Amino acid sequence: MISNNFEAKLKQKEDQVNQLLEDYCPKKDSFNEEIVESLKYSLLVGGKRLRPILMAETYALFGGNEKVIEPFMVAMEMIHSYSLVHDDLPAMDNDDYRRGNKTTWSKYGEDIGILAGDALLNFAYETAFTGVALTKNQDRAIKALKVLAKKAGIYGMIGGQSVDVKNTGREINKETLSYIYQLKTGALIQAAMMVGAILAGASQEEVKIVEEMALSIGMAFQIQDDILDLTATKEELGKPIQSDLKNKKITYVTLYGMQEAKEKVNSYSKESIKLYHSLAKENSFLESLIEFLINRRK
Ligand code: IPE
Ligand code: IPE
Ligand code: MG
Ligand code: MG
Ligand code: MG
Repeated sequence: MISNNFEAKLKQKEDQVNQLLEDYCPKKDSFNEEIVESLKYSLLVGGKRLRPILMAETYALFGGNEKVIEPFMVAMEMIHSYSLVHDDLPAMDNDDYRRGNKTTWSKYGEDIGILAGDALLNFAYETAFTGVALTKNQDRAIKALKVLAKKAGIYGMIGGQSVDVKNTGREINKETLSYIYQLKTGALIQAAMMVGAILAGASQEEVKIVEEMALSIGMAFQIQDDILDLTATKEELGKPIQSDLKNKKITYVTLYGMQEAKEKVNSYSKESIKLYHSLAKENSFLESLIEFLINRRK
């Protein structure tokens, strides 16, 4: 059972992430006002902050307790936010509402929309690099940076998004759809949890289990996103509903049906809990968070 106590803790953790994001934001001068403002708008307005929270909780799971995690959490949310800014562009999903507000491109124009995404991506790495100086274990920080970069790129989120957009409006099979979801959504959740594990000094075998566990969480998360696209309201989601229908996108709901899609959310979530237990470490908040995501409404 998810208790009120869990939700209060989650809110508290979300607030802590928001504070960190503000602290690490770039500073304005007389010429860069537009790009700094649009970057801050894309990053600071709304968002559940799940990936930095998952990162911090995985870090804690393996006993991590240094400041080095903070710039990595910020970098993670910057990369995720950039992926959304670009995902909403007219050339991609063409959506005008995100996190309860206008999307970056529809507020600042397409040119600044593209640049705000680029700026977030670049600033993410600038920020993560500051983490290297905050730890005695620089080898771990460099390893973590490499995972972050890889999972955000061609072998990760960008790889998935490119197959997604190229197949929009086309019939695709189950294998292709699974590939898209593993990469477009699974990879950044893997990055979040793997970075947490690596920075805390988890063993190679443990990082491997975390990678698998995060993939299951990512699959459940994206299938639930498909379900919510059809069953939630715009107010609940803070983004347009029926965006997939508008774009004639094949999703788990169109390919498997609503009932089976829901069963898949359940089975992927169960799989991730099983992998969590196989680590034989204790972070009850992380376990509750994984369970909480199964029935999320936003
Ligand atoms: C949205 O991610 C994109 C998907 C992978 C489905 P979130 O649902 O985590 O979005 P925010 O960060 O809370 O806005
Ligand atoms: C996007 O998937 C995942 C990303 C990598 C941005 P969607 O296109 O379904 O995400 P939403 O529904 O716009 O948040
Ligand atoms: Mg998309
Ligand atoms: Mg989209
Ligand atoms: Mg969606």
